Amino acid sequence: MKHLLSLESLSALDMRAILDRVPEFKLHRRLHARPLTGHTWALIFSKSSTRTRVSFEVGLRELGAQVLFLSAADIQLGRGEPIQDTARVLGSMVHGAIIRTFAQADVDAFASFSLIPTVNALTDQEHPCQILTDIFTFEELTGESIEGKIVTFVGDGACNVPTSWIFAAARLGFELRIAAPRQFWPDPELLRRAGAQEDYRWDLRPTGITERFTVGAGIVELMVDCQLAARNADLLYTDVWVSMGKEAEAEDRLRLLSGYQINDSLVALARPNALVMHCLPAYRGKEIDGATLEQHAKTIFTQAENRLHVQKAIIAWMTS
Ligand code: CP
Ligand code: NVA
Repeated sequence: MKHLLSLESLSALDMRAILDRVPEFKLHRRLHARPLTGHTWALIFSKSSTRTRVSFEVGLRELGAQVLFLSAADIQLGRGEPIQDTARVLGSMVHGAIIRTFAQADVDAFASFSLIPTVNALTDQEHPCQILTDIFTFEELTGESIEGKIVTFVGDGACNVPTSWIFAAARLGFELRIAAPRQFWPDPELLRRAGAQEDYRWDLRPTGITERFTVGAGIVELMVDCQLAARNADLLYTDVWVSMGKEAEAEDRLRLLSGYQINDSLVALARPNALVMHCLPAYRGKEIDGATLEQHAKTIFTQAENRLHVQKAIIAWMTS
């Protein structure tokens, strides 16, 4: 049985197997066969969502399945029923599950107890469907492989989105630069898990240092200076400064991350024709300047639309 629980647990071969099938779903959106006819899939969400919810609901229906949206607040899970019990009950009734929640361990436990194909639709640790979509979108819009390219992530370098980017870099062989204040750098343990040989202890380093690691087939660079990180980048990428679940830290985060905005002067440092992406929702004037977002709206909203096509390819890969 196949699951998509994280990019950490996905091989380069499987990433390519998914990405290779996306054009089939995008080009033949309504003509495609309906392989999930007779299936019912559950979406179990403990956090808000626009793109992920709608793209999975529409995508599953277009593949022939019926869909149940279960807000965690409305089922017994929200009142403390263990995930293992929820998983065993749903596993006996539905054919697959899409889960958005806090702890990665809950998605992993759901997959092992339910015995049905399970997709991570965002946890505090990873957002694998988003980053597979971003890579598809980069390759679609540039006509080039992401291998060997420079991707610069600017902002909260310790949240789920850059973490999935780290594992993507390790598998697909590109350079990922993360520009963030040091308290928003990814955990050293994470880089070790991605394959970094060298240890790092940022508490022992002077401010301003760049750390460079070989991780699997790729490279990860951690930087404090976002202008340095933007130089010659093929893709500039950002995400919200206050991820879901971090609302209590909002004031500190807005202050500490205020220099880490994608704007015209940062874009000017990247390669000519560099792409600018945002996983959305966007907070204009915070992680991205409003005018820059509008200049790159075609890329950013193609990225959003592609969630639908990529996730259909993910489901097809899991169920075929
Ligand atoms: N990018 C993304 O996952 O958006 P939603 O939170 O709206 O699903
Ligand atoms: N890092 C963000 C991503 C939103 C799609 C969050 O977890 O809220």
